[in-house]
This record gives sequence, structure tokens and C-alpha cells, in this order.
Amino acid sequence: MQISQKITEIKMAPAPGKITLIGIGPGSVEHMTKRATEAILEADTIIGYNTYIKLIADLIEGKEIIRKSMTEELDRAAEALKHAQQGKKVALVSSGDAGVYGMAGPTFEMLLQVGWKPPKPNEDGAPHGIEVEIVPGASAINACAALVGAPLTHDFCAISLSDLLTPWVNIARRLEAAASADFVLALYNPKSGRRTQHILEAQALLLRHRSPDTPVAIVKSAYRRRQDIQLTTLANMAECQIGMLSTVIIGNSNTFVQHGLMITPRGYSNKYHKTEGSEGKKTALSGEKAGRSLSRSGLSGWLRIIQEEHTSGVSTAKLAQLYKLPEDYIKRSLLITPEPSSKQ
Ligand SMILES: C[S@@+](CC[C@H](N)C(=O)[O-])C[C@H]1O[C@@H](n2cnc3c(N)ncnc32)[C@H](O)[C@@H]1O
Repeated sequence: MQISQKITEIKMAPAPGKITLIGIGPGSVEHMTKRATEAILEADTIIGYNTYIKLIADLIEGKEIIRKSMTEELDRAAEALKHAQQGKKVALVSSGDAGVYGMAGPTFEMLLQVGWKPPKPNEDGAPHGIEVEIVPGASAINACAALVGAPLTHDFCAISLSDLLTPWVNIARRLEAAASADFVLALYNPKSGRRTQHILEAQALLLRHRSPDTPVAIVKSAYRRRQDIQLTTLANMAECQIGMLSTVIIGNSNTFVQHGLMITPRGYSNKYHKTEGSEGKKTALSGEKAGRSLSRSGLSGWLRIIQEEHTSGVSTAKLAQLYKLPEDYIKRSLLITPEPSSKQ
């Protein structure tokens, strides 16, 4: 349904109300930010999915509470606008962060469709028009990572396996791109009662690029009463318990598990000796320097190498194949003058 079908105009409010989009973090009050708690306490009306309302039950006694089901995001946004138009302070609560697969997107889409603009302050400094504040929260990716070690210490991406609003082919392409580029992946919405095949498809796409032994963490209900953590491998992940409340973290080609901790190295071994020097400091490998790009595999070093290879007769097509990059990007790189290498 078009958002504009639900609300067609912004009515003048007697006094401007406010919509606060609040990320309440993974679930426990200890992991909610101070501003999230304050914003909930300041609100007249709380709107959210029933499970999230239950998670903040202690903070909302005596307030107007509007509970909505999982699929009623647009209703939640419309309800928030309706109450803000009456001059109320409305808290729209999302688990994790409201901007990560949360209520922030649909709320702004709806507001923009009915002509809302961020209000400018009046002469007295008060905003005229409905104010919107976004209060960030720890998303499931952060919460689940913290419970299993340090799996996100290098480049990562989040992909939702939900095809309720996203065509599967887009999801599959994103999985394929992330897998081939060696990102650590966090899969949101990995499986539900009705969506059971999607996680198997994700596994098959990932196995085309990654070892079956790649570490995988499946975290259910992080920082909630029924928290459950499973450490497994890419080959075996489909046999594990995965549901609507799980996030699946899949390591990159360097991720390892030791003493029950899933760790993705930051890359220090590319630059430093494993053992420490005589003063107990890490010593750099020959040709490397702290605070400088990697000498051979940083941008300038790599440009020098491909330019030498090309001069010695390696074709752009071969270089493209070798480095798994588009040939036109290789051609462009051959025209760039590398920065001078740093002296040791
Ligand atoms: C609609 S998304 C909401 C994400 C949320 N806005 C966030 O930033 O975490 C729902 C998905 O988030 C993940 N999720 C949310 N809370 C979680 C938790 N406490 N533990 C594990 N996964 C969680 C699950 O993958 C679930 O299917």
C-alpha cells in the first residue's frame, strides 16, 4: 500500500509535537543508551511492536501505549504522525538501531510523502512544525559480535534475507558480491517459519567462494532471556537452530576460532613481526613503516607492481584476471603516477 494512501496531509498542530525514533539496543536495559532511556521517559505516547514494548515495560508505566504487530510498520509511522499532530511527544521504538532495518526509513518516507520538512526554529528558538529525533542504539550486528569475540574487526556487511519487500535476485546478488569480495557477513532475518529455503541459498552462494570450514556464529536473542550462541562452520550451519530472532555472522577467509572466540584479524601480520623487539615493541617487517600504507600491497605499491608487469608484457586482460578486477579499472590504474615510496 502507498504510504500516501494512509495519510494525505499534514494538519496544523496546536503546538508542535515530536517524533523520536529510538533504538533500544538488543534487549536488556543495561545495553540501552542514556539518551534512549531519557527519550522514552520524556514521551507521552509509545508506539512499537509488542515484543519491544515488553522489553521496556518498566520505563513506560502510565503512558499511552500503542502496540502494533510485526508487519504494521506503515501503521506505526502513520500513528506516530497522527499523535505528533496533536502536539504529543511520540516515541517510536525499534530493537537495535532504528535506522538498521528499523522504523527510521518508513517514517521519513511517510513524512516526506505528506510534505513534511525538518522544522526551522522560530525566533524564540522553538521549532515550528513536527520535530524528528533519531536516537541510535546498538544494532544486532554489534550485540551478536560482542557475544562471540571480535568477528567484525575487518570489513563487513549486513544483508537481510527477508524477501518480504526485496526481490530475491537482489539479495542473491548482494550475497554473491559480498562472498566474492571476502566481507565478513551478518545475515539479518535469516529464517522464519515460512522462509526456510533462503538460508540454504545463502550457504550455497557463500560456499562458491569460501572454505566449508569458515567459522560461523549463530546468535539468538542476544542480551535477552532466551539468549543462545552456536559456533559452527559454513558447511554445517544449516543443521543449526536458526530463527526469526537469530543473526548469523559468517567469517571471512582469515577469521578463526580459538578458545571459543571468533576472531577476524585486523591485518597486523601484514606489517609487523609476530614476536616483539628487544624493547617489547612490535617491530615492522622489512620495508614497512607504522602509519604508512603497506609498501608493496598498499595502493602505490600495487600501482608500481602492475605498471612493471604491464611494461614487461602482461596484458591488461591478464592483469584483470590475476587481480579479479575489471579490465577498465586496470587500464585506468596504469595511467596513475604512484606516490613516491616512503624511506625507512
Ligand atoms: C527487522 S530486523 C531489526 C534489526 C534491528 N533494528 C537492529 O538494529 O538490530 C530483525 C532482525 O534483527 C536481528 N536481531 C534483532 N535483535 C536481535 C537480538 N537481540 N539477537 C539476535 N538477533 C537480533 C535478527 O536477525 C532479526 O531477524
